[in-house]
Amino acid sequence: MSKSAKKPIRKLSGVQWQLLKNQWQIVWVSSLVFSLGILIAATIIQSSPYLFEHYSTITEVPLFSNAFFLYFLLASFYVLLINLSVSFFYSYPFAKHVKNQAEKLIDAATSFTRGKLTSRVEIQGENEFSQLSERFNAMAQHYEKQVFSLQKLLSENSLLIEQAEQAASLEERRKLARDLHDAISQQLFAISMTMAALPKLISKNQQQAITVLNDVEKMVNNAQQELRALIMHLRPVTLDGKSFEEGIQALFEELKVKNKHLTLHLDFKQQTQLPSKIEDQLFRTIQEAISNMLRHSKATIFDMKLYEKDGRLCIALEDNGVGFIVEEMEKKGSYGLATMKERMIELGGNLTILSYPKKGTKLELRVPLRL
Ligand SMILES: Nc1ncnc2c1ncn2[C@@H]1O[C@H](COP(=O)(O)OP(=O)(O)OP(=O)(O)O)[C@@H](O)[C@H]1O
Ligand SMILES: [Mg+2]
Repeated sequence: MSKSAKKPIRKLSGVQWQLLKNQWQIVWVSSLVFSLGILIAATIIQSSPYLFEHYSTITEVPLFSNAFFLYFLLASFYVLLINLSVSFFYSYPFAKHVKNQAEKLIDAATSFTRGKLTSRVEIQGENEFSQLSERFNAMAQHYEKQVFSLQKLLSENSLLIEQAEQAASLEERRKLARDLHDAISQQLFAISMTMAALPKLISKNQQQAITVLNDVEKMVNNAQQELRALIMHLRPVTLDGKSFEEGIQALFEELKVKNKHLTLHLDFKQQTQLPSKIEDQLFRTIQEAISNMLRHSKATIFDMKLYEKDGRLCIALEDNGVGFIVEEMEKKGSYGLATMKERMIELGGNLTILSYPKKGTKLELRVPLRL
């Protein structure tokens, strides 16, 4: 509500009193003009006796006597009183009527702005006030309908979000099943087949058996690596009440414990507290980047820097792994990379992926801080 709408109207500046004051000014002025007219007429009569020679009494009696002034004053006062009373008698009810109509409109508008959308105003007649009330009612009805359809849209939207979330978790499960099948189950199958052939091979060719055993060890390591990446995927995707910094540090602690071959660097220089929705989205993106690094990069060093620059939060994630050709992956429509980009766009930021085969991968996330 604006300041002027809140300001109470002082009684004497209200429309009713304005109208009455106006009327009284008219009365004063007309009474004064009337009295002056009488005075001028008397002066003319006195100074031009030949005009009224037939009316000897008028010319013989001197007009400007004390009695004349007394009668004149009494008559002027009487006229003024009559004028005032008559004007009050007619103007007061009209002014009150105008004031009531204006108050009805003000009351309706006030309760409307306070959220009572059913607020309407009834003013009969064919004047500007009745027109104003009609327009107000039409506007209020229009606004009420819009609010209603907005609320409907909102609830439909939240239903859609719920359905999308259900579909997403279903999709997540399918992906997990596929990953478990492709990565873990097939590797375990290959390991068990190789192991089954080992006893015979040991008795036939011990040297070859040792080579196969080394291969098996590599396969087991691979499977273990894949499992770790999957576990990273399965971690709770929200920060669960932890601060962003605490969440990231916990993630790095976990990485350190489970990936002894990896050298990790974390440089956290963020000061600003971000809204939790933004922190969650960033956390998910970082999780996917780490999961990719664990699954695909074969890296031995992983670096994460987080800092603020030019009103933006910048996160750089870098590994020294095998790298890949970004354009090729983007053309393939890779799900993980595409989702990371979408998340950043949703936050009004962007994601740059720099990667070259055998030269490692660097992801740069940038998010504006004052959204
Ligand atoms: N840090 C990385 N090092 C090497 N290659 C990577 C790295 N990150 C991504 N890639 C390559 O980019 C591809 C696409 O990654 P993306 O995350 O989109 O898919 P994904 O990890 O294979 O599957 P998912 O849908 O489960 O994430 C990966 O298959 C991998 O070849
Ligand atoms: Mg991925």
